[in-house]
Amino acid sequence: MKNKTVNWGIIGLGNIANHFANDLALIPNAHLRAVASRTKKKAKEFAEKHKAEKAYGSYKKLLKDKTIDIIYIATPHDSHAELSIAAMKAGKAVLCEKPLAVNKKQVKKMIKTAKKQKVFMMEAFWSKFNPSVKQSIELAKNGRIGEVNYVNADFCFYKDAPPESRMFNLDLAGGSLLDVGVYPIFLAYSIFGKPKEILATARFHDTGADIQTAAILKYKKGIANIFCGFVSESDTVAKIYGTKGCIYIDSRWHETQSFRIIDGTGSNKMQEIKVNPTRGKGFTYEIEECMQCLHNGQLESDQWSHKNSLELITIVDEIRAQCGLKYPFE
Ligand SMILES: NC(=O)c1ccc[n+]([C@@H]2O[C@H](COP(=O)([O-])OP(=O)(O)OC[C@H]3O[C@@H](n4cnc5c(N)ncnc54)[C@H](OP(=O)(O)O)[C@@H]3O)[C@@H](O)[C@H]2O)c1
Repeated sequence: MKNKTVNWGIIGLGNIANHFANDLALIPNAHLRAVASRTKKKAKEFAEKHKAEKAYGSYKKLLKDKTIDIIYIATPHDSHAELSIAAMKAGKAVLCEKPLAVNKKQVKKMIKTAKKQKVFMMEAFWSKFNPSVKQSIELAKNGRIGEVNYVNADFCFYKDAPPESRMFNLDLAGGSLLDVGVYPIFLAYSIFGKPKEILATARFHDTGADIQTAAILKYKKGIANIFCGFVSESDTVAKIYGTKGCIYIDSRWHETQSFRIIDGTGSNKMQEIKVNPTRGKGFTYEIEECMQCLHNGQLESDQWSHKNSLELITIVDEIRAQCGLKYPFE
C-alpha cells in the first residue's frame, strides 16, 4: 500500500498548475493521470507538456474519471468551494489552492462535505510545508528567541493587469488580501493562534478589489503587523521577534530557501541558516503530505487541518468586514 501509485488530476491549467505539475513529476508514486481545462486544446497542450495520460476539455469529465484518486484545484478563488464540493461528491480526495474558499461559510460547507463523503481534503497552503518556514515557526514556538511578542510580515508585488483579470476582478474574488494577504496572516496565526482583536484598513481598485490592505492583529502576549498589496514591491522578509532575539525568514519568505536568527545565546550577530533548498519549487512537500494522508486513510492533514483553514478564513472575513470588502456573489 505504501508504494501504491496515486493518480492525480488537475483542474484549471493556469500559472500555478504548471508549477505544480513540474513538482508532481518529482514525487515517486505520484502519477499525473488527467488534466482538465475549459478548452480541449489547452488541456491537450498541458497534458503533452507534463505527460498526463488524459486531457479533458471540461472539468465535469475529469470528475467522472474513476481512475483518479485526488484532484488538485487551481482555478480562481471564487470557484474553489463549488469545484471542491463537486469533486468530493464524485468520491475524489481534494487538494485545493489557497484560499480554500472565499469566506467562512463556504469553508464550513466544504468541511461538512469532506466529512460526509469521507474523503481527504486539504488547502494547498504550501508555505506551511516549506522547510525554512517550518523550522522558523518551530524555533519561535520552542522559545529559541524568548517569548515571541511581535510578527511583521508582508507580501506585495506590483501588478499591471486589466480590470477583468483574476487579480482585480471582484467576480473572481480578486484583490490582494485573498491572493497574497493570506500568507502573512498564516504566519501570524501559526505563531500566535487566533487574534483577540483586529484593526484593518484597505485601499481599492476601481473594480472594488483591494490593492493595499493592512491589519494589526492583537493577541494576549503580542501583536502582528501584516500588509499586502498589488501597487508596489515590498521586501517580503517576514520578521518574528521575541524577548531574546529574532528570526528573519528571507525573501520571498513564503517560498524561501533560508532564514536568519539572533537567538541571544552568542555574539548577538545574525546567523544565517540555510535549510536544504526546496525540492522543486516547493510544492513537493504538500504533495507528499497528501499522499501520506491518503496512505494512512486520514481525512485531513494534522499539519494543516480543516480547523486551521477555518480559523484562517475567519480572520480574513473579519479583516474584510472592517475594510468593507464584499464580493458580488456573497
Ligand atoms: N500556491 C501558490 O504559490 C499560488 C500562486 C499563485 C496562485 N495560487 C492560487 O491558485 C489559483 C489560481 O491562480 P493562477 O495564478 O494559477 O491563476 P491563472 O493563471 O489565472 O489560472 C487559473 C486557471 O483557472 C481556470 N479558470 C476557471 N475559471 C476561470 C475564470 N473565470 N477566469 C479565469 N480562469 C479561470 C483557467 O484554466 P482553464 O482555462 O484551463 O480552465 C485558468 O487558467 C488561485 O486561487 C491562487 O490563489 C497559488
